[in-house]
Amino acid sequence: MPALPPSIVPARPPSIVTALPPSIVTALPPSSAFRVVILAAPMSEAAETDLTERLARSLRIGEYTRHILLCTHGDCAPEEAAKESWTFLKRRLRELGLEAAGGVYRTQAACLRICREGPIAVVYPEGTWYRRCTPEALERILQEHLIGGRPVAELAFAANPLPTARKP
Ligand code: FES
Repeated sequence: MPALPPSIVPARPPSIVTALPPSIVTALPPSSAFRVVILAAPMSEAAETDLTERLARSLRIGEYTRHILLCTHGDCAPEEAAKESWTFLKRRLRELGLEAAGGVYRTQAACLRICREGPIAVVYPEGTWYRRCTPEALERILQEHLIGGRPVAELAFAANPLPTARKP
């Protein structure tokens, strides 16, 4: 890693960094000056906790009704096909307005441990496991399951519904 020019290792107080909205902080490329500032100026535990909680709020965690995880690792399906499916899923969730409050949270998984007939996906809370998640299959999952609320039996190969979470 090349040495950083002194001009991008400023003695800025951490408060400047932590005052940035989490969405901006996380959007910065790892090599950016601000990221360097974060690494060079460790935050207190309380500040770390506050930043994490603000990040979760900016991602609207707590408002979702479903979560879809899609494997893009490249062993269960060719890597290019998996990336194409992931790009399609992100675009369609946005286009359909499903990323809004009460919608669908998405996660790109490194491996869901099935490792065949991919891309593999799983949708919670129903715990419906899907195989061969091409863009065409994902469109059906989006329309029938994520919008319509009915898992797509023809594409599913396993189910593990989670018990309803109860507050203590
Ligand atoms: S590589 Fe996709 S499930 Fe393991």
